[in-house]
Amino acid sequence: MRALVVYHSKSGNTGKAAHDISEELECFVHVDIEKIDVERYHPFLFGTLRAFKDMFSSEEFPLTGLSYDPIKYDFLVVGSPVWGNSCTPPIRYYLSDLEEYSSRAAFFTTQSGKPTYDAIKKMEELFGMEADAKLAIKKGDIDKGEYFNDIKNFVSELLGMEH
Ligand SMILES: Cc1cc2nc3c(=O)[nH]c(=O)nc-3n(C[C@H](O)[C@H](O)[C@H](O)COP(=O)(O)O)c2cc1C
Repeated sequence: MRALVVYHSKSGNTGKAAHDISEELECFVHVDIEKIDVERYHPFLFGTLRAFKDMFSSEEFPLTGLSYDPIKYDFLVVGSPVWGNSCTPPIRYYLSDLEEYSSRAAFFTTQSGKPTYDAIKKMEELFGMEADAKLAIKKGDIDKGEYFNDIKNFVSELLGMEH
């Protein structure tokens, strides 16, 4: 069995969570990790301004340099930072393009405020199906390392295991 963990991360929080989730998943299945790298958000100041601008735009730009085909995996995990109560534009484009994927899927988000599931709901709409596991993570819990139980439950739910 194989799992693909796909994430976008501007400042590293979602990346840290994606790697911790991958480590837990690796106890059970083979895992590949796909980081969606978007250069327009790299420069600290201009990248952040562009991120805020893109939050309110439906302009599309193609994702380049992806290495893995999600259709070939039994489990898919997609992680996004929360931008304006939704997922980021790169994750929006990634999920909109995933029409053929029908195996088990899990979505997670990271945000600086109180965790809500609004962005995950948006991700499910784009994906066209409800996720098998969902986790909204607060940035502060990543910093403090206080989310490993949540990650264990998230992975168990994705894999369909009892916990
Ligand atoms: C453009 C932008 C919009 C954001 N909007 C929200 C928001 O609506 N709610 C929230 O709690 N945090 C918001 N944040 C904070 C990020 O969601 C949070 O820092 C997240 O963990 C960043 O993930 P990353 O380090 O993987 O990029 C926003 C950050 C940016 C840059």
